[in-house]
Amino acid sequence: MKVLVATEKPFAKAAVNGIREIVEKNGHSLSLLEKYSSPEELKAAVADADALIVRSDKVTADVVEAASCLKIVVRAGAGYDNLDLAACSAHGIVAMNTPGQNSNAVAELALGLMIYMNRNQFTPGTGSELKGKTIGIQAYGNVGRLVGKLAMGFGMDVIAFDPFLSAEKIEQSGARVASSLEELYEKSDFVSLHIPATPQTKGSIGKDLVSRMPKGACLINTARKEVINESELLEVLTEREDLRYVADVAPERAEEFKEKLGKRYFGTPKKMGAETAEANINAGLAAASQICRFFSDGDRTFQLNK
Ligand code: 3PG
Repeated sequence: MKVLVATEKPFAKAAVNGIREIVEKNGHSLSLLEKYSSPEELKAAVADADALIVRSDKVTADVVEAASCLKIVVRAGAGYDNLDLAACSAHGIVAMNTPGQNSNAVAELALGLMIYMNRNQFTPGTGSELKGKTIGIQAYGNVGRLVGKLAMGFGMDVIAFDPFLSAEKIEQSGARVASSLEELYEKSDFVSLHIPATPQTKGSIGKDLVSRMPKGACLINTARKEVINESELLEVLTEREDLRYVADVAPERAEEFKEKLGKRYFGTPKKMGAETAEANINAGLAAASQICRFFSDGDRTFQLNK
């Protein structure tokens, strides 16, 4: 079988080597399409692929249409808003992700961004510490729980809101439970977002929630830019000169954020949460193994389009 790794933002070399080893050891062949610049290139490359590994690369209905041999696509990572699952299902293609494999990298970045913002973006001036502050974690999945654990290590008080988890499960980790999203925002000096981008969450973080945050609070987004209502966020951050926003990755209206908010805002130019050698290796090798097990035993663990 031909396995194509198509990554506009390439994996670390060690990850590509590891993927190749797994694929070839299982009797398949590997081809690579890295740093491509148009969907056409992806469509041409995928034409004779039996399996596809991607990161945030957009696997649209068009791409699926062009992939007439494709049997499985694996998003090496957590969020799968880049996959058209309906198109995959319509063409009998199994779609998977690799949950948890890059979570630590994202969680560490969230803490790093908090420190960066609390220390004047590493420029002279008096900053403040994380110790003793409250962090509210919106969605307590793989990344959210790790952020909570790291924050506890810094001596922070952790509150979490997750409608899909029992209070007991949240409390077992040492975090307190917020009974509503509103309460989470009202009680937190930092709110860290770990929700996926879905039709329900897109544009859901706006004025109503952010304006509830206490004086000097900071919103951290290492999830997806799409979950933010950018106009409302800009409005509330312009009105409230004490609030801050830090994002991986920068909003659509990044220039306006920079201009209006100065150092109360920072956005990474390219999504870098999972940009560590470890995360690339964990997610890339997991994707390769999942594909090989699918071909050898029909294993469909982590299938998304059931
Ligand atoms: C994810 O959903 O796994 C992260 O956002 C990482 O995305 P990336 O592979 O594009 O860096």
